[in-house]
Amino acid sequence: MRFDVFTLFPEALEPYLQSSILKRASERDLVQFWMHNIRDWATDKHHITDDEPYGGGGGMIMKVEPIFAAVEDVVGVPPMCPVILLTPQGRLFTQEVARELVQQPRLALIAGRYEGLDERIRQHLVSDEISIGDYVLTGGELPALVLIDAITRLLPGVLGDPDAPLKDSHAKGLLEHPHYTRPADFRGWGVPDVLRSGNHALVDRWRREQSLRRTWERRAELLDTAELSEEDRIFLEELNVKRKT
Ligand code: ADE
Repeated sequence: MRFDVFTLFPEALEPYLQSSILKRASERDLVQFWMHNIRDWATDKHHITDDEPYGGGGGMIMKVEPIFAAVEDVVGVPPMCPVILLTPQGRLFTQEVARELVQQPRLALIAGRYEGLDERIRQHLVSDEISIGDYVLTGGELPALVLIDAITRLLPGVLGDPDAPLKDSHAKGLLEHPHYTRPADFRGWGVPDVLRSGNHALVDRWRREQSLRRTWERRAELLDTAELSEEDRIFLEELNVKRKT
């Protein structure tokens, strides 16, 4: 899979892409990261990429021409892949959206800066707008990294355990169960006996119940859309009864 990121600050993204799992994935050619500095497509002497808003008011607006030139040069006319703008006004990024986007062989990501972008970029270049949450960052670079990270780890071969993405929090619409590793005793704090029992059926059941309980306690709304078995429903019913008594 290939990512083309359009940004004024490629240096802000590179260290993260060159670390750990993402670095290994690109070295193994499972993914390609291409950073493009929008400034390189500004044709005036000073390589200006922003200007004052028509109608006045504060802040600077990213100009339409350099972004169009950059994206059209790299991704073609019409663009050969989705062109995603990172913006707090976009649809919310979730695990489900990550699973949708990992199906694409290529994605172009535009990381906006300043107060905003010329609206014509949204109207005539961008095919999708994504927000990573209801808060405002100084630019789209961190959101672009968030998308790249969440999507890349879903690519086959990127994680050591091919089933890992199936077990994540949110993978099946539930939060994940707790984990423990050695030592069995730390400052008198132990590990649930069941995890050391060697009984896999009991361990699986304990994990499922912990996952249900956590989701019920912390993000009860997720239970409305999660895939639940009859056994899960009975367990949740018991939790609800206990709360009421
Ligand atoms: N740019 C600034 N804030 C953002 C957010 N929350 N999501 C996506 N892009 C952004």
